[in-house]
Amino acid sequence: MSRKHHIPRQNSANYERSFFGRRQGRSTSPLRIGILDDLLPKIELPEEKLLLEQNISPEELFGRPYSKYWLEIGFGYGEHMATLLRNNPDTGYLGAEPFIGGMSAFLMNLQEDEAHDNVRALMDDGMIIARSIKPNSLDGIYVLNPDPWHKKRHHKRRIINQVNLDVFADILKPGAPLVLTTDVENLAEWMCTQASNHPAFKWTANSKDDFYTPPKDWITTRYEEKGAKGAKKMVYMFFERKE
Ligand SMILES: C[S@@+](CC[C@H](N)C(=O)[O-])C[C@H]1O[C@@H](n2cnc3c(N)ncnc32)[C@H](O)[C@@H]1O
Repeated sequence: MSRKHHIPRQNSANYERSFFGRRQGRSTSPLRIGILDDLLPKIELPEEKLLLEQNISPEELFGRPYSKYWLEIGFGYGEHMATLLRNNPDTGYLGAEPFIGGMSAFLMNLQEDEAHDNVRALMDDGMIIARSIKPNSLDGIYVLNPDPWHKKRHHKRRIINQVNLDVFADILKPGAPLVLTTDVENLAEWMCTQASNHPAFKWTANSKDDFYTPPKDWITTRYEEKGAKGAKKMVYMFFERKE
């Protein structure tokens, strides 16, 4: 998709929120509530601003420039993002996870560090971040093991769809990766078809083996180890924003 023909995005205020499963666990412990109160405000993205504005540069969200910027949507317990942000201090990570249990686990993990300047997080729909970011400004996006929405009538809720791919195409730099994983066979097929059919994305796999082989430095999450109910093999799909 050429950027010339791009249809301007609307801000998130005009969109319906995505559907989530349970946002709050049955019992959120005082420890978790405490960490949400103490640590989240230090790294929290300004939701009102994101809802109302577009064209926000990632640099503005961090208050300083980083050499690269990545977005992870639905980071779960955050093991993947926490490892990345420690390994890559020159990269700024934007992450979204609406589930309180996930966000608090991520913050507990972060608490062990002295500094966590290179991460900003939102406890809400990741598309709120994506829709507010300036075009051509991200170096990559992760959507790892998104909710499968098994029933056919719920497929429209799947996060990888043409509308959201338009947004990703807009905010990614040319050549930047869009990384998708799942162990739900039917969702793998869906995501692969959606992204392959999108004019702005190219699938980078060379063979069928690439589908099932994680890169050498892949960071595994608890969810990935446990797997979805009745799930089969984990599938790794690397797409690239076309030039
Ligand atoms: C199956 S879990 C996978 C978690 C993690 N990515 C992993 O692989 O370990 C899917 C996560 O996506 C989150 N999620 C669902 N819809 C979302 C959305 N629109 N924006 C951000 N997160 C979302 C859910 O709360 C859940 O934690």
